[in-house]
Amino acid sequence: MRRPAFDMNVFKERRAKLASELASVGGASAVVLWAHPEQLRNDDVHHLYKPDSNLFYLTGWEEPESVLVFRPGMEPESTLFVRDKDPARETWEGFRYGPAAAKSEFGMGETHLMSEFESKFVGLLKGCDRLYYRFGTDQLRDLRMLALMDRVRETHGRSGRGLLPIHDSKELLGKLRVIKSAADVGFLREACEISTRGHVKAMAFTRPGMNERQVMATVLHSFYMDGAAREGYPAIVASGDSATTLHYRFNDQPCRDGDLLLLDAGAETANGYTGDVTRTFPVNGKFSAPQRSVYEAVLRVQKSLIAMAKPGAAFRSLMDHAIEALTDEMRELGLLKGARQELIDSLAFRRYYPHGMGHFLGMDVHDSGLYNVDGQSEKHSRLLEPGMCFTVEPGLYVPASDESAPPELRGIGVRIEDNVVVTEAGCEVLTGGAPKEISEIEALMRPSKA
Ligand code: GLY
Ligand code: MN
Ligand code: MN
Repeated sequence: MRRPAFDMNVFKERRAKLASELASVGGASAVVLWAHPEQLRNDDVHHLYKPDSNLFYLTGWEEPESVLVFRPGMEPESTLFVRDKDPARETWEGFRYGPAAAKSEFGMGETHLMSEFESKFVGLLKGCDRLYYRFGTDQLRDLRMLALMDRVRETHGRSGRGLLPIHDSKELLGKLRVIKSAADVGFLREACEISTRGHVKAMAFTRPGMNERQVMATVLHSFYMDGAAREGYPAIVASGDSATTLHYRFNDQPCRDGDLLLLDAGAETANGYTGDVTRTFPVNGKFSAPQRSVYEAVLRVQKSLIAMAKPGAAFRSLMDHAIEALTDEMRELGLLKGARQELIDSLAFRRYYPHGMGHFLGMDVHDSGLYNVDGQSEKHSRLLEPGMCFTVEPGLYVPASDESAPPELRGIGVRIEDNVVVTEAGCEVLTGGAPKEISEIEALMRPSKA
């Protein structure tokens, strides 16, 4: 039998945290989390399955076709519906826990077969004051849930009551997930370290004439050899002008002498945490003068953003600073002309910096959590707190076809992305293992170091 590879206390503690969050709301709440379905890749072959992050966060459960009904303060608190054992299918697809092992190994109060979900659900929701569920990921499931909630309503007889209020479960779980515990930071640190070691290997390996796919293979080889469970997102291996496509996916071009390579790749650990790291380096190991000028501009801004990350700073103020500082750099580089504020008000800066400064990071690369919380500041931007983890990833992208840009800058795309955790005093960079100073990158890429 397969056994869960995780310390179940981590999940128990998270359920306790969620219970105390819901206790502060009052009344009886039920949180319903569905595993998301497997996705077909071609014919009868499926994409690699990534367990639903919220369901996994609370239980460590990784199988599709499952639902958790969590009712803090009620008995049972955790009810997990799962697939049955099926020797024939397990011969083809691998081990399934089934209800008995799901209960004993995962510390659930009760487990049932998924086929019993409809018949048990109404009983579980009876006596609850509200439901937390996320609409919008699967229309058929949403309809099924609405029909079930109507049956819960019917249990109230001719009371005049409507459906129970339904709140968003992702927002609820995001409240917890956005603040990482010491254990969570440990998991993220591991993911970040595996990620950065992969970047170092890729830098040392890259030479003119190699295909982007070969660089990707180097990164993935390093991730998996180093303990990763999977990638946190599809790697972006973008050489030359392709680096100006933000989420470039082809990864199939030769890396040419004289071009930069933008590598955005993150390793995910079995605990579900992922790094999200970008480095940009010259294919031939030596930055040209125009590449250097754009790279140094982005690096200056990136460092100034990291210096701002501390408890009490508004997330929005980092976003704004990135826009202001990059706009100044664009003026210095001759990409934009005019007064700083006008270029910001007219959104002219978006021509070369079209994305945000960063995003929360954790079990999802673009992790859960609200960015704006009413009442925390004039602009309602969330204030940073210890335990928050996010990316710092300014960039400048000058498309080759941009005839208004200085010719020597056309086709240059640079992003530098680190992952930080907010500490009591400031922040800690978890991805410092991958060099980002020009001198360090060039030293690492010298042929003698290959
Ligand atoms: N790797 C995707 C991102 O940086 O947001
Ligand atoms: Mn990234
Ligand atoms: Mn990112």
